[in-house]
Order: sequence, then structure tokens, then C-alpha cells
Amino acid sequence: MALIERASRPDRADVERLIAAYHTSEGVKPKPERITWAVEQQMRNRFPGVLLVAREKRTLVGVALAIYQPSAELGRMLVIQDFYVDPSVRRKGVGKALAAKLLDEAKAMRIDRVDLEVFPKNEAAAAFWRSLGFRTAGRVIYSKDLA
Ligand SMILES: CC(C)(COP(=O)(O)OP(=O)(O)OC[C@H]1O[C@@H](n2cnc3c(N)ncnc32)[C@H](O)[C@@H]1OP(=O)(O)O)[C@@H](O)C(=O)NCCC(=O)NCCS
Repeated sequence: MALIERASRPDRADVERLIAAYHTSEGVKPKPERITWAVEQQMRNRFPGVLLVAREKRTLVGVALAIYQPSAELGRMLVIQDFYVDPSVRRKGVGKALAAKLLDEAKAMRIDRVDLEVFPKNEAAAAFWRSLGFRTAGRVIYSKDLA
């Protein structure tokens, strides 16, 4: 079974590799400098959040990156930005273990709500989050790229 724990400095290259694989799997071209920057923010505790890894023996097989966000409407939110399990170990409970640890950490941070986005075509992710009790709230995300 995978060991789930907070990422540490030596994990950095593998964390970035897994996040890049995640972006590719979503049809998004990974931007290495952005991934490095975002991971660095967490590793240096620049923003409150959680960066977890799933380890099988010495190999990193999963990653979860979530950022704290204060909301006047929803209270203390934790927003999952990146969540990925290596295809070679899927359907073995690694994702569930990662999510369970993330929710434990969220409770310790007195988080009111955990949010995430799923592309409509990503049926596996939707099924995964539904199996853990997550539900859509009928919201639609509007975005505008500024950079
Ligand atoms: C979604 C993802 C994280 C699931 O990880 P995983 O380790 O395979 O998930 P688990 O083995 O813990 O699955 C737990 C439950 O979720 C559901 N589930 C997971 N993958 C599923 C799939 N492909 N189809 C249907 N249900 C699925 C099942 O109910 C499963 O329980 P079961 O295996 O006993 O039936 C993984 O498929 C992944 O990394 N996908 C690509 C990245 C991604 O989409 N990330 C989420 C974006 S928000």
C-alpha cells in the first residue's frame, strides 16, 4: 500500500514530473516554469496549503496540491489544484488514500469546504470524486487568461 505524506525537498523533481504528467493527461501543455514556481510556493510555505505525495517503496506514484482560499461566502476553503495518480497503479486505492489524507489535513486546518474542478470529459475523475462524496453544486466556472 502506498505511503501518503507531505512532500519534502528531495521529492521536488518527481512532484514536478507528476504534475506535468497530470497537465498532459488533461490535454494541457505543461509549462515547466509555472509548475516549478507553484511547487516552490508550497515548499517554502509562501501560501497556506497542502502538498502530498504517495510513495510506493522509493517511487512517487501520486501527488496532490491544494491551496487555502478565504471566502466571504464559503469560509475557509481548500481548493485542489493538481491531483494525479500514476497510470501504472490506478484502481488500487492510491487516489482514495491521497484524498483521505488531504481531508484529514483539511480538518486539522479547520477548513469548511474542499473544492476542485473537473473537465466534463474526465469521467474517471468525476466517478472518483463522486465515490468520495463530492458533488457538483451546479456552478459553472468563467475564466479569462491575463497572461
Ligand atoms: C482520478 C484518479 C486520481 C483516481 O485515482 P485511483 O488511485 O485510480 O483511484 P482509487 O483506486 O482510489 O479509486 C477509488 C474509487 O474511485 C472510483 N474510480 C476511480 N477511477 C475510476 C474510473 N476510471 N472509472 C470509474 N470509477 C473510478 C471507483 O469508485 C474507485 O473504487 P473501486 O476501485 O473500488 O471501484 C486517477 O484516475 C488519475 O490520476 N486520473 C488522472 C488525473 C485526474 O483526472 N485527476 C483528477 C482531476 S480533479
